[in-house]
Amino acid sequence: MAWDWEKVVDDLQRVPDGINSQVPSSARVYDYLLGGKDNYAVDRAIGERLLTVAPDTRSVVRANRAFLARAVRLLAERGVTQFIDLGTGIPTSPSVHEVARETHPDARIVYVDNDPLVKAHNDALLATDDGVIILEADIRRPEDIVGHPDVTKLIDFERPVGVLLVAVLHFVSDVEGAYRILSGLRGRMAPGSYLVLSHSSSESEPEVLAQLQASTAGSPAQTTFRSHEEILAFFEGFELEEPGLVPVQRWRPAMDSISTRLIVEGAVAKRP
Ligand SMILES: C[S@@+](CC[C@H](N)C(=O)[O-])C[C@H]1O[C@@H](n2cnc3c(N)ncnc32)[C@H](O)[C@@H]1O
Repeated sequence: MAWDWEKVVDDLQRVPDGINSQVPSSARVYDYLLGGKDNYAVDRAIGERLLTVAPDTRSVVRANRAFLARAVRLLAERGVTQFIDLGTGIPTSPSVHEVARETHPDARIVYVDNDPLVKAHNDALLATDDGVIILEADIRRPEDIVGHPDVTKLIDFERPVGVLLVAVLHFVSDVEGAYRILSGLRGRMAPGSYLVLSHSSSESEPEVLAQLQASTAGSPAQTTFRSHEEILAFFEGFELEEPGLVPVQRWRPAMDSISTRLIVEGAVAKRP
């Protein structure tokens, strides 16, 4: 019998409680594509299949992280001092609190993710920081998040808040209520609040869509690609900032941007 050594090594690794190393996780696939070490064979296999059809995927995920940092910096410069980052991911520097605190050293941040590994890593990193919390929760129930006592202790919903939904809504299908998430949040966001959102586009190369859909079907990493108009619909009730909804690498880039086979679009919008 041929041994799958990668799998054997994963099995021997100490897998934290509540984590299934045999089922792919979007946080761990993303970590692999960013060059991180917090992933298992099952996650790396998806990443590798994606890289076969879209070798530029690592550039796209880095561009998505860079978009997140540019957006948070802009919001901080506009006076936003409190942030809710929904679908945080495994900690990757610079994180939201690091960027926000370049401008506001006392900025407060709520990180939210439903992957226990993300919470474990953030807990270890943020244990002594009173201004940052990590909540293990599901964005499909936004009212549980905005009403959570730890969140209301840290976030003043009477004042502007930056809400981040970066590279996460494509893991929530229409049937699971992707658009309802925004209705649950919008009403709690005071005028002057901002929404930062990025999302995988159905205008990506067809073989990229087919590969990702086939390799993630039925898992928590299952991806729903949406068209430009369908992504725009998440911004209902907000006013888009320039340059609107564009591939993330084109959103106020610091340098010339590239075209990619996997397209992730992003935008920042203000609550009037
Ligand atoms: C691709 S990563 C994006 C991380 C980070 N936002 C970024 O853009 O760099 C998606 C994250 O969303 C989390 N996620 C997916 N579905 C979720 C849900 N229903 N509730 C909370 N978090 C979710 C995953 O666990 C993962 O950490």
